[in-house]
Amino acid sequence: MPLIRIPKRWELPESQVTPESIYWNRRRFLKALGLGTVSLLGGFWPGLLSGAPDEQDELRATIPPPHKPYPAPRNPRFQVDRPLTPELIAAQYNNFYEFTLKKNGVWKLARRFRPRPWTIEISGEVHRPTTLDIDQLLARFPLEERVYRFRCVEAWSMVVPWTGIPFKKILDFVQPTGQARYVRFVSFYRPEEAPGQKDRSYPWPYFEGLTLAEASNELTLLATGIYGHPLPNQHGAPARIVVPWKYGYKNIKSVVKIELTRKRPPTFWNTLVPDEYDFWSNVNPNKPHPRWSQATERDIATGRRIPTLLYNGYAQEVAALYKESR
Ligand code: MTE
Repeated sequence: MPLIRIPKRWELPESQVTPESIYWNRRRFLKALGLGTVSLLGGFWPGLLSGAPDEQDELRATIPPPHKPYPAPRNPRFQVDRPLTPELIAAQYNNFYEFTLKKNGVWKLARRFRPRPWTIEISGEVHRPTTLDIDQLLARFPLEERVYRFRCVEAWSMVVPWTGIPFKKILDFVQPTGQARYVRFVSFYRPEEAPGQKDRSYPWPYFEGLTLAEASNELTLLATGIYGHPLPNQHGAPARIVVPWKYGYKNIKSVVKIELTRKRPPTFWNTLVPDEYDFWSNVNPNKPHPRWSQATERDIATGRRIPTLLYNGYAQEVAALYKESR
């Protein structure tokens, strides 16, 4: 897996673990030819869009057309002082290990994935346990669009408009009991559709967790859309969590189960590599990863390095959640 170290027996050849460096070298090469800023697809940067025009058409075809209730009204409170990442760049640069470890290969393999019919079970320490069909969920809760920064632990970043439901509204609906302290999220398990799940050295399905206070924070979204239409499979259709002050891997995709618990739930990457990925995983430029600095990040659209902000720029909304610098 790129940059996220996993125990020796899973390690990939260098050529597979550093696809990013290949992109950046290609970009330098294009720049040297004076092509660094050539726009192929309405302003997209060619260094990151792989494949011939036919393949780019195939990539476009993975993006679902907007249909009701999309596009949702944008909430003007959540804006970012950086340009939006072009949609196709975000759509072909993914981490979704259920399909493949190669970022630019996810969209191709995820085309076989069927995000409908889909239900999300909400259980545990709640007064109203429920199982919601995704379309029932969309009908019951109003959607809104928010532009958020997104920062991966691997030190790349983007800015995207998510469409989703503020997670607090879902919590209010199921009514947590007085014993609830944490929220556990579980993704799907379908090895016949997701070839990466045939690799039994990972503890599938992917699982994550937040404290109840984090899950109730105004920033936490259950996202069902991006760029004004439903989520394409590669971004975690039909619904994924978005917690923009945490590293990308906390933003679990394609959620099927949400459980409120008394005890802190284990998380996928912390289970695999406990000394590198902790439960909190808040974006923090002053706390290096054991193997690299987190002080800066690379914008996937421009290739430029920019400073990383504490809590990814969301200190105002979340700093009060943490007494220590987590
Ligand atoms: N969710 C699941 N189910 N499986 C995954 O492999 N990868 C995580 C996160 N959620 C992952 C996941 C990581 S490491 C990142 S950086 C983000 O998804 C990437 O989200 P994106 O591909 O939509 O940009």
